Amino acid sequence: MKLIHLTDTHLTTPGRMLYGINPLARLNAAIDHIRAQHADAELCVITGDLTHWGEAAAYASLREALRALPMPVLPLIGNHDNRDRFCAAFPDVPCDEAGFVQWIRDSSVGRFIFLDTVISDVSQGRKSAGYFDSGRLKWLRKQLDVSKTDAVQVFLFMHHPPFGVGISAFDEINIVSDDALTFGALLLEYTHIRHLFFGHIHRPISGSWHGIPFSTLPATAHQSGLDFLSDTDQFTHEAPGYGVVLITPGQVTVHICDFLYSGPHFHPASEFL
Ligand SMILES: [Fe+2]
Repeated sequence: MKLIHLTDTHLTTPGRMLYGINPLARLNAAIDHIRAQHADAELCVITGDLTHWGEAAAYASLREALRALPMPVLPLIGNHDNRDRFCAAFPDVPCDEAGFVQWIRDSSVGRFIFLDTVISDVSQGRKSAGYFDSGRLKWLRKQLDVSKTDAVQVFLFMHHPPFGVGISAFDEINIVSDDALTFGALLLEYTHIRHLFFGHIHRPISGSWHGIPFSTLPATAHQSGLDFLSDTDQFTHEAPGYGVVLITPGQVTVHICDFLYSGPHFHPASEFL
């Protein structure tokens, strides 16, 4: 199975620049590249921060842009999104009984579980941080139990990582510590979770957590600087990317595509030196 992973598109109202970048132009360039190279992908997942300020016009432009992709597109929300406006723009995306944008979808390689890590009441916490309260945890436990009973392997998709990645500015705004602890404890009860995909960091990172492999990737919009010394956000114009994930029964392979690269492609035996 081939899966396309996009993240942090941060769309604005069409034409409005963000940190010196046109987010819609970036997304359209990624879509053109995917259409040319990966039209055979089974699914495309976008792990949140679909828009930067959550305007209805930004969601409308996202919806219009995504129509060009030939495969089903499954969008999650992130801390920059507005849940109500997202749901209005994407009424076909399911929500759980509590209204969180959480659902499952079976694929040719297993069950994809999409999680909503966005704060439910911004007056009760920090908007940029991630939350996964007891209600959402209960929903996830049910999905994990059912998938275990069904003997299907599970792939998790979420915006915020439930752990730090060693970049202090981002480690302040992952899933808050109490929720991350209970989330981790729940996952430890299961052995059929094959991979955790997330966004939020705007950098290519991979590793494992509690024995579960994870990966995230550059945004299609602005990137985060790799600065282990500063405790403040630093954005950059490093290359954007999207993920090409190849999944077989025994392997998950994550490629990151620099879709704006326009330099040479040449044979090693060529005289291009
Ligand atoms: Fe983001």
